[in-house]
Parts: sequence; C-alpha cells; structure tokens
Amino acid sequence: MNKLLQMKNLERHYETPAGVVKALDGISFEIFEGERVILLGPSGSGKTTLLNCLSALDSPTGGNYSFKGREVPRNNSEKMTSFRRENIGYVFQFFNLLQDLTVLENILLIQELANKKNSLRAKELLELVGLEAEVDRFPGEISGGQQQRVAIARSIAKRPTLLLGDELTGNLDTETSNKVMEALVSACKQENITSVFVTHDEGLVKYATRVIRIDSGKIISDERTGNDSGV
Ligand SMILES: Nc1ncnc2c1ncn2[C@@H]1O[C@H](COP(=O)(O)OP(=O)(O)O)[C@@H](O)[C@H]1O
Ligand SMILES: [Mg+2]
Repeated sequence: MNKLLQMKNLERHYETPAGVVKALDGISFEIFEGERVILLGPSGSGKTTLLNCLSALDSPTGGNYSFKGREVPRNNSEKMTSFRRENIGYVFQFFNLLQDLTVLENILLIQELANKKNSLRAKELLELVGLEAEVDRFPGEISGGQQQRVAIARSIAKRPTLLLGDELTGNLDTETSNKVMEALVSACKQENITSVFVTHDEGLVKYATRVIRIDSGKIISDERTGNDSGV
C-alpha cells in the first residue's frame, strides 16, 4: 500500500485567557491509500481540530504534516484553499444541499464549479449511492438518509483523494446510518478514495478498516479492524 499522508508530533495549541489549550498534543500517524479510518473520542478530545488540520482548514502550531510526500501548507489561506480543492472532499452533518435544485442539479452544480460537468457521471454517482429513482426530486421531497447520500455523491463528484466527515450520521437513525455508511463504503471502494470519519458511534466501526481513538489531544489506540481495505 502507498502512503498517502503522515503526521508527526502534530500540535494545535490555543492561547486562551485561562492558559494554553492543547487541542492536539503530539499526534503521529500515517494513512495509506484505500484505508477507511474511523476516529473515535469523547466530546472535546480534539476530533474536529484533527479533521480541520487534515484538510488544511486550520493550521497546526507545531509538528509536521505531509500529504503525498509534500509538506501541507499552513498559515497561508490561498495555498491552503488550493490544497483543499485539489485533494479534499467533505461530507457535512447537515447535508447542505441546495433546496431549489433537484438531486441531479445539486451534483451538476459541483461539477460545474470544478469545470468538470458530466451528466452521465453525475447519474452514475447517484446510482452508486442507490438514488437512481430520485434524480429529479428536490431535497425537500426525499428522506434525511437519502439527502445524506446525495451529499456523499456530491462530495465524491470531484474525485477527492481524501474524503472527510464529522459526525456525518449524527442526526440519522441507526437503520438510515447503516444505509448511508454502506453507500459510502461502496463509493469509496469504487472510486479508490481514502476516508477519515469522525464519530462517537461505536456501531460504525464495522465499516472501517482502521480505528483510531483519541483523548485529550492524544492518540490512545490505533488498530486495524480486519475488514478488507477494498483496494
Ligand atoms: N477556537 C478555540 N479556542 C480555544 N479552545 C478551543 C478552540 N477550538 C477548540 N478548542 C478546544 O480544543 C479542544 C478540542 O476541541 P474539538 O476538536 O472541537 O473536540 P471534539 O471535536 O473532539 O469535540 C476542546 O478542549 C475545545 O474546547
Ligand atoms: Mg467535534
């Protein structure tokens, strides 16, 4: 397996009036292409901070982070934005679909923004997440789980190298979460996308190839699950 990224002793400290908050306190790991990582940890443990550093939305205050062998830009919003455009996809907890556009149009819009309009591929992506019958519906006319699957199709439309999600099943019931995760796994396998998902739901571990647990800004365990890596 090829190494996709590596963090070495990564730190994200906040200066606050009450003192220094070590949101990330020396994080080190490597992620290989095709892995599906689930990041587990209690509230306040640093999960969102770690995702924001992985996607170069936020700048670490110490340590190293390299992606495909190159140092990831920090403290430079232009370079950080182009790093994200090139490499990162993101699935939000609250779908963020445009309500006045149909399911298909939501995908086409993203392709257009990336200068990659291709309606055949847009339909293929929607088929991949099991929404071939819903392409012409509006987000308000489909269920929450279906909306999240549209959001997944949208997030992979630009073929990101790394797909990230923060509590992306957080407001779905268990059965719907499972459907969403199954769609996600098959899309990631088919498109050869590496993923890191934050959750506090132990039930999602079965979809991961690897589980990293963090607490107080530190990794406390890092285990492969024995599920196939799918590549
Ligand atoms: N802008 C900020 N200023 C100060 N402390 C922060 C800031 N953002 C996050 N933190 C602190 O960093 C720690 C990790 O937060 P976060 O990454 O949001 O945790 P999680 O996503 O696991 O709930 C928490 O103690 C939080 O209070
Ligand atoms: Mg969080």
